[in-house]
Amino acid sequence: MGDPEWWQNAVIYQLYVRSFADSDGDGVGDIPGIVSRLDYLSWLGVDAIWCTPVTASSNHDHGYDVTHYRAIEPSLGTMEDFDRLIAEAESRGIRVLLDLVPNHTSIDHPWFTSPGTRRSYYVWADRPNNWVSSLHIPAWSYDEAEGSYYLHSYLPQQPDLNWWNDDVRAEFDDILAFWFDKGVAGFRIDACYVILKDRQLRDNPVARKGDHMWDLNRGQRPVHSAHQPEVHDVLRRWRAVADRYDPPRLLMGATWVPEPADLVAYYGKGDELQLPQYFQLLFSDFGADALRSCAETWLETLGPGDTPVWLASNHDLSRFPTRWCDGDDRKTRLALAMLLTLPGACVLFQGDEIGMEDTVIPVARLRDSAPWPRDASRTPMPWQRGHLGGFTTGEPWLPLGDTERNVADQMADPDSVLNETRRLIALKKRLTGPYRPLPAEDDHWRYRRGAVAVDLDFAGSAVCIDG
Ligand code: NOJ
Repeated sequence: MGDPEWWQNAVIYQLYVRSFADSDGDGVGDIPGIVSRLDYLSWLGVDAIWCTPVTASSNHDHGYDVTHYRAIEPSLGTMEDFDRLIAEAESRGIRVLLDLVPNHTSIDHPWFTSPGTRRSYYVWADRPNNWVSSLHIPAWSYDEAEGSYYLHSYLPQQPDLNWWNDDVRAEFDDILAFWFDKGVAGFRIDACYVILKDRQLRDNPVARKGDHMWDLNRGQRPVHSAHQPEVHDVLRRWRAVADRYDPPRLLMGATWVPEPADLVAYYGKGDELQLPQYFQLLFSDFGADALRSCAETWLETLGPGDTPVWLASNHDLSRFPTRWCDGDDRKTRLALAMLLTLPGACVLFQGDEIGMEDTVIPVARLRDSAPWPRDASRTPMPWQRGHLGGFTTGEPWLPLGDTERNVADQMADPDSVLNETRRLIALKKRLTGPYRPLPAEDDHWRYRRGAVAVDLDFAGSAVCIDG
């Protein structure tokens, strides 16, 4: 599949696998379900799919608590299904990216349960420090057998690995190679800015007025529990593994790094991540000045050759058609036009292309174990009308939202958000020129990409693309 730097202008489609398509009626989306919808993704025009974790898991955090890094989670399919996915996707020119979870394992992973690795592979302390997890709960839990506390930057069922241990680094070199050998085109890397911690496990300072919103919410600045400079050694090491392949494999980071000047370091000298995700955009207000300044700040911070990646929804946060657009399709089209005409790569979350909104879920049906459940953005994909939405024939693991908004109806309507997204994806392939800002009146954002001029009119919720 041609261009080794395909990701530079790519549309990457994020699949929340459990909620994409269920092939066997157990109510949980699965790998054969993805295969059954590849023709749709090919019609839409995406370059790659990024699958949330498909490796064996205890499912306290739906795949982000891995019990076996080289086995497929049985509820999602088999290794044969996965090999078929790679082959079927490749035959349609679609690359497959997986989610790598290096910061922590499941509490049930053999590394955590075996006396031989338990102590040295994980982070332990006799007295916990003041660190708070990303889910705003204490980051330490007491282990009776060890008589000591283990660190978990997320849930207690997700103990953090000790990335100062060279054996852990070597394990992951092999895990990366295992999937690359199978034909996986790259990884989205979970929590990669967190993997290394202060060796002395010093307390974090409290967050103060003026600190970033993410730190204020947590009450402390994670200066010792994340963002350690040595993380870049590990990223270079992974890049070296990825570069052994032809074409070199893609590394895209889930990089919650508040300052653009710090985030840009994740590109290294072109020898770390190709696509560190820029989350600031998701937190911007929806208006011309706010979004323009957020996007331009990032574009101006990038070094020559660094490729930005734009995204506005994912499985952890409210979907942008709800968060930004109040379900107004004109605003959703505006947001999609922005995401797909800015230079660089774009990640669409499943459902973005039809303007799918968050779903209000009855408390008894919530399935996320995080203190603030993230299920509202994770509900199953509505393929057609009806309470099962063509997603499953059984009882869906999470209830579907509004199936009036669905893929089948929108495919049939040339004026739908879906068909607009498809046209924008096709346009993106033609946009090769650099971003050139243009003067604009109030609440408009105008720019040029080569011969194409884009006018995003936030006042009138309208888009005009010329050229
Ligand atoms: C970030 C993932 O996106 C999220 O879903 C997960 O809970 C945490 N990392 C922990 O792996």
